[in-house]
Amino acid sequence: MTRKKIDKKYSSKSAVIHYGADILDSPDYAKCAEFIQHGNTSVREHEISVAMTSVAIARRLPFKFSFSSLVRGSLLHDFFLYDWHKTDNTVRNHAQNHASYALKNAAERFSINPIEADMIKKHMFPVNLALPKYRETVILTIADKICSFKETLSRKSLQ
Ligand SMILES: [Fe+2]
Ligand SMILES: [Fe+2]
Repeated sequence: MTRKKIDKKYSSKSAVIHYGADILDSPDYAKCAEFIQHGNTSVREHEISVAMTSVAIARRLPFKFSFSSLVRGSLLHDFFLYDWHKTDNTVRNHAQNHASYALKNAAERFSINPIEADMIKKHMFPVNLALPKYRETVILTIADKICSFKETLSRKSLQ
């Protein structure tokens, strides 16, 4: 695992495209666009926003990161592939369990390293009490909450 400061040639968006190209181009990942996450934001839009926000936060901090893992773990953190709003959903306790589904789906389709696995599995901290092991996981938990809050608020402003 190599951690360093981000290459200044990358914006947060271009870093996501650079490190996540194979995920973003995958037909399986395209399915995330079929499911709504919050408000009128699809799961795919949410995951991409979270990845860009993770990079934007990390690049401002005086620490080194694996930006590749930060992008990939963020892109895949909600790769659960079902509609969690449906009341007849067979998946129970979405808030507690979706990270495990996302990790299983991600590991079946992509090469996932230990940092990315930790990010996906533990991104719901503190809803799930498993402590993040890596600094990339901590950044994801923060970026996810910021984006989720914004997406929920933007829905309210539309009503
Ligand atoms: Fe999530
Ligand atoms: Fe999320």
